[in-house]
Amino acid sequence: MSLSIGIHDLSFATGEFVLPHTALAAHNGTEIGKYHLGIGQESMSVPAADEDIVTLGATAAAPIIARHGAERIRTVVFATESSIDQAKSAGVYVHSLLGLPSATRVVELKQACYGATAALQFAIGLVQRDPAQQVLVVASDVSKYELDSPGEATQGAAAVAMLVGVDPALVRIEDPSGLFTADVMDFWRPNYREAALVDGHESIGAYLQAVEGTWKDYTEQGGRTLEEFAAFCYHQPFTKMAYKAHRHLLNYCGYDTDEAVIARALGHTTAYNRVIGNSYTASVYLGLAALLDRSEDLTGRPLAFLSYGSGSVAEFFAGTVVAGYREHLRTDANRQAIDRRTEVDYARYRDLHEWRFPTDGGDHATPEQTTGPFRLAGISGHKRLYQAR
Ligand code: CAA
Repeated sequence: MSLSIGIHDLSFATGEFVLPHTALAAHNGTEIGKYHLGIGQESMSVPAADEDIVTLGATAAAPIIARHGAERIRTVVFATESSIDQAKSAGVYVHSLLGLPSATRVVELKQACYGATAALQFAIGLVQRDPAQQVLVVASDVSKYELDSPGEATQGAAAVAMLVGVDPALVRIEDPSGLFTADVMDFWRPNYREAALVDGHESIGAYLQAVEGTWKDYTEQGGRTLEEFAAFCYHQPFTKMAYKAHRHLLNYCGYDTDEAVIARALGHTTAYNRVIGNSYTASVYLGLAALLDRSEDLTGRPLAFLSYGSGSVAEFFAGTVVAGYREHLRTDANRQAIDRRTEVDYARYRDLHEWRFPTDGGDHATPEQTTGPFRLAGISGHKRLYQAR
């Protein structure tokens, strides 16, 4: 009999600050309907100067360790596309901040926004090999585009931590997967740049191509039919993208694109992304968190996942919601992670966007801004210094 493996727990964290799109629209003279309706975004999380992918990742993962302990975790996979070091895995800092056992393998994975799904699939492989073990997957990103660029409205920041193991309490991940890779330059970030480069309209087309490609492979591999799915969790660089993607999939499969049907399939999945913004690797799994928190009972219902990472790699796969899952949700904590953010005005956001360490190799402290459990205290001798409170 095949093992039941999947997501046993899921917790997320987001930045200290939030910028409403009304403030961005007032600054750049954009009609607010373009943000609220056109791209489907209301606000975006903005990290404090003393937050980064490590502090966000550790904050997301800490409640999982508090609930389950670390005894069975022998692997930590950290997925990100906003890496803070070219060599050392951000996961090693998280491992240290959380006090995980030394008998752990830790690694960082990258393929744009797809990295967390690769991490999840690799985790399932490790658990398959030794069902006694659990894998901690951390997906953490700060999405940053140039000020006054079209991408600026699609920034955000968040981390999702997932505990992967046998007999999962939330979602059992199924075979097969539909896979798709194409060498496209729709979005990328050269090593010397902090902000991503993007061809926005090309990236939307590349995403839709990947929807087709993954679905084609998924059906060829013997996957479920479209009608079987209770809901679809798409990667959401902005929430309207999920609607574009689902409409495209329905058209590709020869179905009518009834907007009420699309809204039913996606509606609950967009609630967190709409106010957090693009969280890159974390975004699909924020969609899952919102769906589980907000839907009627989904016990036994199959869910579809479409993970897209520019460049590009994508995967379509299914998971089934496990009986009793509601007792394990973190709905209150999730609401609190969003509600605790302090709203900033445009000028403050701009300062935060422009804040960065000097690259002179000197010692520099960060301003104390975050109220979260972990902070990036500064840099000394080229080393990042983290603190747990
Ligand atoms: N009221 C309502 N809707 C309005 C409006 C108004 N007043 N004004 C404009 N709109 C609509 C437009 O009609 C358009 O809708 P459609 O896409 O349905 O046609 C929508 O608002 C956006 O308008 P534009 O296309 O004119 O906007 P833009 O040129 O400023 O670019 C963007 C939008 C391409 C998403 C840009 O924000 C961007 O480059 N973002 C970063 C790239 C990105 O997120 N790509 C997504 C796919 S790649 C990916 O998924 C990986 C990743 O995470 C980056």
